[in-house]
Amino acid sequence: MTWRIDVKLVRFGVSVKEDLLKQFDFSINQKGYANRSEAIRDLIRLSLLKGEDNPSASAIGVIGYVFNHRKRELQHKLTHIGHRRLGEVISSMHIHIDETHCLEVVVAKGIVKELQELADEIISSRGVIYGELILSPHPKRL
Ligand code: NI
Repeated sequence: MTWRIDVKLVRFGVSVKEDLLKQFDFSINQKGYANRSEAIRDLIRLSLLKGEDNPSASAIGVIGYVFNHRKRELQHKLTHIGHRRLGEVISSMHIHIDETHCLEVVVAKGIVKELQELADEIISSRGVIYGELILSPHPKRL
């Protein structure tokens, strides 16, 4: 039995200055890409996702943030946000970093706009020292 994947691949040519291509090859080599095609596919996906032109696209979000757990109202607020956003939040993990600081990782799914709002609400809270949202397009879109 043979497997056949019904994905139509399209080849296209790109003109680029030699020096720029050398830098690109060096960069993707450092990152461990086996070839240019995979690196360019990732750049295209990233570009489609990063563009806020598609706020209703389905995505998976990972929000990582470091906060001061001694700020009691913050702990309550963060817990409240998680409970209020149950439809989006899939899982979370809490790591005690030192006597004062904790790291939390929240995984959520939804549309880009909702995930961005969730991340903004968490990261802008007083006592959150650093936070970042990593978005991945929903696998069905890739
Ligand atoms: Ni902790």
